[in-house]
Amino acid sequence: MTNNAETILRLSALSKTYTPAGRAPVEALSAVDLELRRGDMQVITGPSGSGKSTLLLCAGALMRPSSGQVIMQGSDLYELGSEERAEWRAKHIGFVFQQFHLIPFLDISDNILVATLPGGASTEQRQRAEMLIERFGLVERRGNPVAELSVGERQRVALARALLMQPALLLADEPTGNLDEDNAAIVLQAMRDFSEQGGAVLLVTHNKQLENPRSKRLHKGHFVK
Ligand SMILES: Nc1ncnc2c1ncn2[C@@H]1O[C@H](COP(=O)(O)OP(=O)(O)OP(=O)(O)O)[C@@H](O)[C@H]1O
Ligand SMILES: [Mg+2]
Repeated sequence: MTNNAETILRLSALSKTYTPAGRAPVEALSAVDLELRRGDMQVITGPSGSGKSTLLLCAGALMRPSSGQVIMQGSDLYELGSEERAEWRAKHIGFVFQQFHLIPFLDISDNILVATLPGGASTEQRQRAEMLIERFGLVERRGNPVAELSVGERQRVALARALLMQPALLLADEPTGNLDEDNAAIVLQAMRDFSEQGGAVLLVTHNKQLENPRSKRLHKGHFVK
């Protein structure tokens, strides 16, 4: 039996069909069910086009599914009003995007603290950003605009930004895709630590090396494992 208090995220019959104007609809996600509990680090693998990013965008309150539900800690995220949903996302969900989405002309600290702008970060948030900068080996680079950073460094900035607000749920899209072994190990260990400290991680990747006995495989919008 599921202990609801432990459940952080539940996806029920989640489907998404894109309907691009003038073109045939694309069924990207088809009745996916998934449950993540505190402490889980769930890996989902799947080839390009299998629906991984679509799944994360819907799960992360960034894109309304065509049908189905995204329940996080008891709240049905797409039943919330759009402002409430955005607030929920900012407070409780960390997102590492496939393309990072950092702000190129801002430095590392300001990228990590971007969610606190323009009002300004609290002392506690600044201290936490500093701690993350140290933890992810970014101290020497901290003043550089992120446009000047290597891909591995950018990925670590993106992860630090996602962890700043101490979310309950971390969603990561191909977080080690372009990284060398050392950087990939740093990023994976940070995610493992986050889940072991009581968060939940949902990681999607095409990289079969990240498969484990509990991982699931997505194919054409369905779980096949
Ligand atoms: N905005 C969109 N409009 C129309 N079709 C889309 C849109 N976004 C994604 N798709 C289609 O939906 C399917 C799933 O795309 P998605 O980006 O979720 O795949 P993915 O598993 O993340 O792939 P990749 O590994 O290449 O990132 C693909 O067939 C894709 O072409
Ligand atoms: Mg993708």
